[in-house]
Amino acid sequence: PRNVVRGPGGALAVAGLDVRDLAAEFGTPVYVLDEDDLRGRAREFRDAFPDADVYYAGKAFLCRAVVRMIAEEGLFLDVCSGGELATALSAGMDPARIGFHGNNKSVAELTRAVDAGVGRIIVDSFAEIDRLTALARERGVRPRVLVRVTVGVEAHTHEFIATAHEDQKFGFSLAGGAAAAAAFKILDEDVLELRGLHSHIGSQIFDASGFEVSARRVLALQAQIRDARGVELPELDLGGGFGIAYTTQDDPAAPHELAKRLRKIVDGECAAEKLAVPHLSIEPGRAIVGPAVFTLYEVGTVKDVDGIRTYVSVDGGMSDNIRTALYDASYSATVANRASAAEPMLARVVGKHCESGDIVVKDEFLPADVQPGDLVAVPGTGAYCRSMASNYNHVPRPPVVAVRDGRARLIVRRETEDDLLALDVG
Ligand code: LLP
Repeated sequence: PRNVVRGPGGALAVAGLDVRDLAAEFGTPVYVLDEDDLRGRAREFRDAFPDADVYYAGKAFLCRAVVRMIAEEGLFLDVCSGGELATALSAGMDPARIGFHGNNKSVAELTRAVDAGVGRIIVDSFAEIDRLTALARERGVRPRVLVRVTVGVEAHTHEFIATAHEDQKFGFSLAGGAAAAAAFKILDEDVLELRGLHSHIGSQIFDASGFEVSARRVLALQAQIRDARGVELPELDLGGGFGIAYTTQDDPAAPHELAKRLRKIVDGECAAEKLAVPHLSIEPGRAIVGPAVFTLYEVGTVKDVDGIRTYVSVDGGMSDNIRTALYDASYSATVANRASAAEPMLARVVGKHCESGDIVVKDEFLPADVQPGDLVAVPGTGAYCRSMASNYNHVPRPPVVAVRDGRARLIVRRETEDDLLALDVG
């Protein structure tokens, strides 16, 4: 996070708060969210795309406090389940500023979304078009929809989080003609209002050319729809996926650079196709919340394995950050409670779970005198860490604490063993 400094004794302080005090007050592990950082990133996207709608992708991390923060910063919200929708609504998010995603939305979820009056539903299958049509007739409403188009771009990211190559579950294929067929089908249903096309090519993407190719292809479809039906769809959503720096090796583009490149492509393509420029939207999740959070752990054991490497075990692990185990993701770590003059040594930060893949940080140089009781901070854990946290080994999930101007505020409390046992009704 931006508002982190090393204090005089070498301990980290965030937004004016010493991490030792945060650990004492809230326990460890704890996700610490630098609220001004998150708000700042939200504003940067909004300012970089002044005439577009910026939807914060709630799947990255969602709780009521964050819904309010992003709403206050002028953002819209993308949800992809009944649970995320419920969280958004319970925080007072204007339903008209919510977009609803998902490749297998249930009838119950669609009903709730329609009844709540969400601003748009991004449809992902012919079955969903049928369900939504029936629902709209039954309820006497005319939901606004976008068609999710699979544009066939190979995004250079981990296979599991790339989403626009042909062979995968999301969206309607552009090449196979399904996307055009979906758009025509919706245009034929007078109870659905087709607002535009949508594409999302994947996540943690650094190469902006993927977005450019994708924009070109959806706009070609836009022109095809105009030629076939004489309608120009008024909106275009280019999705999220903007990469962030997890380690010093990563060099993400700033939002305004991305905006400039996307604008140029969209304007150029629209001019070439003689299309009116549609109203744009984007859906960044990771790039807004990811860098704003670090996880604070306490070291429990330090084990030197025959000169191969040193294993530093912390009091969390794959239950609060599955990304290293699942995607081979890279993180960094630092001893947070003190400075050390000891030599750096190659360490692996591991968790407390019962499997050897339970790695938080694969390789990091930590001071050779790191010891039980030290605090370790792992930055960049705002996105897809708490939101993908589990109770593996019946470990309760950590709390989220928002810090700002020298004050700490618990926004998601720590799960307790009672919480876990409350579900166990046998
Ligand atoms: N829009 C759509 C339709 C999406 O599916 C996603 C992410 C986003 C926007 C936001 O993408 P972002 O800006 O956060 O990259 N669990 C994985 C990431 C999964 C992303 C799923 N969809 C991870 O931890 O890397």
